[in-house]
Amino acid sequence: MPQTPQVNRRIVLASRPLGAPRAEHFRLEEQELPALAAGQLLLRTLYLSLDPYMRGRMSDAPSYAPAVALGAVMVGGTISRVQASQHPHFAPGELVLASSGWQDYAVSDGTGLRKLDAQMPRPSLALGVLGMPGFTAYVGLLDIGQPKPGETVVVAAASGAVGAVVGQIAKLQGCRAVGIAGGADKCRFVVDELGFDACIDRRASELEQRLAEACPQGIDVYFETVGGAVFDAVLPLLQVHARVPLCGLIAQYNHTDPAPGPDRLPRLARTLLTKRIRMQGFIIFEHYAARFEEFLTQMNRWLADGRLKSREDIVEGLERSPQAFIGLLQGENFGKLVVRVAEQ
Ligand SMILES: NC(=O)c1ccc[n+]([C@@H]2O[C@H](COP(=O)([O-])OP(=O)(O)OC[C@H]3O[C@@H](n4cnc5c(N)ncnc54)[C@H](OP(=O)(O)O)[C@@H]3O)[C@@H](O)[C@H]2O)c1
Repeated sequence: MPQTPQVNRRIVLASRPLGAPRAEHFRLEEQELPALAAGQLLLRTLYLSLDPYMRGRMSDAPSYAPAVALGAVMVGGTISRVQASQHPHFAPGELVLASSGWQDYAVSDGTGLRKLDAQMPRPSLALGVLGMPGFTAYVGLLDIGQPKPGETVVVAAASGAVGAVVGQIAKLQGCRAVGIAGGADKCRFVVDELGFDACIDRRASELEQRLAEACPQGIDVYFETVGGAVFDAVLPLLQVHARVPLCGLIAQYNHTDPAPGPDRLPRLARTLLTKRIRMQGFIIFEHYAARFEEFLTQMNRWLADGRLKSREDIVEGLERSPQAFIGLLQGENFGKLVVRVAEQ
């Protein structure tokens, strides 16, 4: 077992961005690690998950979760190894799912840790397809979207952590799956590798017309992850009794002003009313107790059968996290974005 380290590198929130985050909103610091007290353990971060919700935590606007304080470590889910332990239930060498944040090490009292199989061939999957984003896709699509065989399911950010799982589960339910993604390479991957029926490049012109061609029967389930121009193109294509799980609005996360153009609310409200559409927002942390174990069993089965694929975009080194996160908000990631902080 490696020696107990003395120094921790961590990335803190240096200032709150207005608009898109930039490098100066983060600061890399070094900090001495305290000695462990009874009941504590030291976690070594192996993988750090980078996710869109972190943009919300950088802001102090009211939200469903508290903001990261200025000078505090950026929040984030991690796969960590127990490096040293004064805790009766954790032994050095064990692998856990933790929320250590953007840092090399974290001292924990064991609260909220989930033990993982230390022999897992790809532990980082517990941050993606087998973790929070995969679970979001599973609950949002099956419970809120309620897709039926033969229906058309549309999802944007379709090559990403949530979208890729939404479309693949839609196919497993016997639906037509149509993705929207940023660029030809991502669209090719979504159709050729993930098995969607079609994928539309959100950056090319005439989005609404091309989406209409890909959805000749209209849209029964639109799994909303982006908002903005994509939602404008989707809205007229929604069918009577369509379901819209409202999962995320990444196109708006860096906005400081309302979107330009006419007020869209009357058109949205009229469409929801006249087509009897159900649009439901959800935040995944409310669903773990009821559904997570079932999700893991089902997803592991689909992965083992080769019916579900997962692409990761792995960035090397904690110090690259800010740049990688800034890129995530601009569509630069291709697959679930994960930082490899240390070798397994
Ligand atoms: N409700 C919940 O509990 C919950 C949980 C997890 C995630 N989410 C939400 O689900 C969404 C997807 O998250 P993820 O983790 O799967 O991320 P991801 O898809 O792996 O990465 C983000 C993707 O969003 C797209 N994007 C970025 N900026 C955009 C813009 N201005 N307009 C349109 N698309 C843009 C890009 O894909 P393209 O370049 O391919 O368009 C980018 O690759 C986010 O909105 C996130 O907040 C919600």
